Amino acid sequence: MNNFWLTLPTEIFFGKGQISVLGKTLKKEGCTKALLAYGHGSIKRNGVYDDIIKELDGHGIPFVELAGIDPNPRIKTVEAGARLCREEGVDFIIAAGAGSVIDCCKAIAAARYYSGDPWDFFTRKTSVKKVLPVCAVLTLAATGSEMNGGTVITNEATREKLSTGSIRMKPKFSILDPVYTFSVPKDQTAAGIADIMSHVFEQYFSCPDAVLQDLMSEAVLKTVIMSGPVAISEPDNYNARADIMWAGTVALNGLLGLGKDGDWATHLIEHELSAKYDITHGTGLAILTPRWMKKVLDTESAGKFARYGRNVWSIQGDDDMTVALQAIDRTGEFFSSLGIPSKLSELGIDSSRFEEMADSALKYSKIGRFRNLSRSDIIDIYRSSL
Ligand code: NZQ
Ligand code: ZN
Repeated sequence: MNNFWLTLPTEIFFGKGQISVLGKTLKKEGCTKALLAYGHGSIKRNGVYDDIIKELDGHGIPFVELAGIDPNPRIKTVEAGARLCREEGVDFIIAAGAGSVIDCCKAIAAARYYSGDPWDFFTRKTSVKKVLPVCAVLTLAATGSEMNGGTVITNEATREKLSTGSIRMKPKFSILDPVYTFSVPKDQTAAGIADIMSHVFEQYFSCPDAVLQDLMSEAVLKTVIMSGPVAISEPDNYNARADIMWAGTVALNGLLGLGKDGDWATHLIEHELSAKYDITHGTGLAILTPRWMKKVLDTESAGKFARYGRNVWSIQGDDDMTVALQAIDRTGEFFSSLGIPSKLSELGIDSSRFEEMADSALKYSKIGRFRNLSRSDIIDIYRSSL
């Protein structure tokens, strides 16, 4: 296991009705004026917006709103949000929504105190030094953004989708009420499940092995494999929604990857798809993951894939390569059983931009630490996903 440093500063309020802590916790944190940021209106349809307003009014907290944050959030919205925070004297941001809203709010929080172009955070021209505090009211189980310091933003002008991270951007607190996810449609629930599993894979298929982290990873995978399909067939099943909500947070709050060099190749090559074609992140991951697995499967990696097959899918057999191949097939079949498309062509994507996407994916760094991917490896993965 590599050396590691861990701090988990985000306070989590998990469960039914936990929105009741919002007002008093904002007050405790010294909030005098909030920015309430959200997406395209799902929070107005499912009652989350009304619950938040009740809390803010009830505690006399003035606020301004930023509505319309897109899935795959844009740098232009970050600029607009930062401007609004400056002009309005906002001192706390409430991110009410899913990963895109939370990511956008973290970037706004950093951009508020930066006089340059906020895209500089993503091209690594500068690092995050000072931020506005953020809290999240989570409405979809997927990214783990509610308890990590990462943010992923799209630049429409350059058609790039890049991430950055800082401990400073970890939310101060997050409210996770599974009831708020009852209204998530089937396709987004499924994409969220694929995203959670992919976060685990990125850290599980990595070096060096670490017994506790790997066993915890298998537990997270088994949880979403058990409860994910229930959440899809019974959208208001509280326990199933609670299971995947907490699994999503644990999958990317730092615990599973401790002391390991995460791979993250599948994420980086998926971000190219979302950047160029504006597809749902988890859908892209579900299509790419089994193809990435087959690409990096060899006699050396077969043991880890076989362990995954045996411990997560209960596949029997002594031959590692046979079990590994079955495990990869089971992974793809599981995503299909959730109703996720299994080919890029089903999303209207053809091969015309594969080379451009491979170049763009490699623009800022090498890709893949479990197995390094060359440009032609990346193109092969896209081709085999067609
Ligand atoms: O815009 P609204 O109306 O809110 O609708 C959203 C959106 O259309 C809808 N939705 C959310 N909660 C809902 C709901 N609809 C009904 N009921 C609810 N309760 O779902 C749609 C998708 O929302 P989005 O925020 O895009 O989903 P997700 O949480 O999957 O976030 C994806 C974004 O996060 C990034 C992805 O790249 C992508 O941009 N990621 C962020 C990470 C991080 N910060 O750690 C890591 C991830 O790997 C990922 O890259
Ligand atoms: Zn992801």
